[in-house]
Amino acid sequence: MDIILDFLTNISWWGWILIVLAGVAIRDIFFQKAHTISHNYPIVGHLRYWLESIGPEMRQYFVANNREELPFNRIERGWIYASAKKENNYEGFGTDRDIYAHQHIFVNNAMMPYKIADNHPNKIDKTFLPCAKVMGEFNKRKRPYRPASVINVSAMSFGSLSAKAVESLNKGVKIACAYHNTGEGGLSPYHSHGGDVVFHFGTGYFGVRADDGGFSMEKMVKLVNDNPFIKAIEVKLSQGAKPGKGGVLPAAKITKEIAKIRGVEVGKDVLSPPNHKAFSNVPEMVDFIEKIAEATGLPVGIKAAIGKLEQWEELADIMKKTGKGPDFITVDGGEGGTGAAPPSFADHVSLPWVYGFSDLYCLFKDKGLSERIVFIGSGKLGFPAKAAMAFAMGADCINVAREAMMSIGCIQSQVCHTNRCPSGVATQSKWLQNGIDPTLKSERLAQYFKTFRKEFIEITHAAGYEHPCQFKMSDIEINVDDHNLSKELSRTYMYNKTPVPFTSMQTLKDCSYLGGVY
Ligand SMILES: Cc1cc2nc3c(=O)[nH]c(=O)nc-3n(C[C@H](O)[C@H](O)[C@H](O)COP(=O)(O)O)c2cc1C
Repeated sequence: MDIILDFLTNISWWGWILIVLAGVAIRDIFFQKAHTISHNYPIVGHLRYWLESIGPEMRQYFVANNREELPFNRIERGWIYASAKKENNYEGFGTDRDIYAHQHIFVNNAMMPYKIADNHPNKIDKTFLPCAKVMGEFNKRKRPYRPASVINVSAMSFGSLSAKAVESLNKGVKIACAYHNTGEGGLSPYHSHGGDVVFHFGTGYFGVRADDGGFSMEKMVKLVNDNPFIKAIEVKLSQGAKPGKGGVLPAAKITKEIAKIRGVEVGKDVLSPPNHKAFSNVPEMVDFIEKIAEATGLPVGIKAAIGKLEQWEELADIMKKTGKGPDFITVDGGEGGTGAAPPSFADHVSLPWVYGFSDLYCLFKDKGLSERIVFIGSGKLGFPAKAAMAFAMGADCINVAREAMMSIGCIQSQVCHTNRCPSGVATQSKWLQNGIDPTLKSERLAQYFKTFRKEFIEITHAAGYEHPCQFKMSDIEINVDDHNLSKELSRTYMYNKTPVPFTSMQTLKDCSYLGGVY
């Protein structure tokens, strides 16, 4: 024994390194079967896997230029971070974008901007920008709702996001007078810090789930009665990142608390099926919407990504014939985010926002229905100029998911599906989310929303208008290609939006249905 110990203690440090490397080489060649590269190139083969694993960070920090990353490039992320922290979000020396590039958008400015009077609501509050339409007004719901902010937090569930992140978002929307969409995972205590809430559910019916896994109207009514801050209900048909796929919450993210809120088992992937149990065709869906609206008194809308139009056409015909149907429609673009989705879906299924929205809006407009629906857009629209384009096309509000995540600290590491989110935003790890201070982060979300609204109002004024609902298709131009140079939206997408009835910002402020706590 002493001889062995003596021998081992006499091995030098480089001797130990050689022994470890020899061990790794033996394992690579004889024992592991999973990696051909390590077998064929023992030891050095590991370098490849390591470099590959740190590649995204290397590219993000050192290699990618300011405008080339996706989903959000460095300039976009920087603008959100600076806006959220109320830091200087200007750029010096002029734009660094290629403004002749395909799809670049331009807002046609007026010769003289809109002038606000001394007693104008925006003179008092430069960020006051409510929705110009009221949800549920046409259908005479008992509790109509006018969102007090044109930018709001899009569907993201507790489960997909951490408790601290959900709490920060809810406290943030309260400060910014916006609403918070719950996402599919049900209403959690973290959604209940005083902000307006849009309760969202999908095919899993989490939070309003009957024992057989279907929808429970009894639970829906109780939920709405117990939580008066729920202002509207959104039925999810699909989302841009994975339409027709249903949902997945990986087992790694299912804690006891999440399992209890959703009514599912701990430690097993939670799958929402692709189809609803509560309805199986368009007329049944309209009945379902009407029953929920009748039982709760709230406006009820649907969220979907757009592809084929036949069933939408059927919906529009029913709405025209019966005077019933959704109070709002949220159109999600194919570029939309998700907690987890197969790339084949995220990359290819459903149309990008501009194509999907223009198809859908035209369809409803042609049937004379666009005035009675509140159109909400989502899909990387959380930037004032993008929002101006969306409003010119017919959107009345926008929802933001990833932009909201970034405002509370997300660094776009794109690992939401692994439970290892380094910023603590999209993980259930207690350690990782402990870095989030909800008081500070809620201020950040609120500040991002306020900065967004302030800049959006300024762009609106530059175009000669008081409210962005007045944007017309001809106010925005988009580079199409070299031959046509740039074309107005109306000529590119071949329609004009229905003018939104708007009298003044003061009327919106005086509206008894106005949400938030103004
Ligand atoms: C982490 C995460 C979770 C999401 N969860 C849901 C969900 O539960 N239901 C849903 O309809 N959409 C969900 N979405 C999609 C967003 O609500 C939104 O439609 C999409 O990301 C586009 O908005 P964005 O470009 O501002 O992120 C989720 C997105 C993210 C990033």
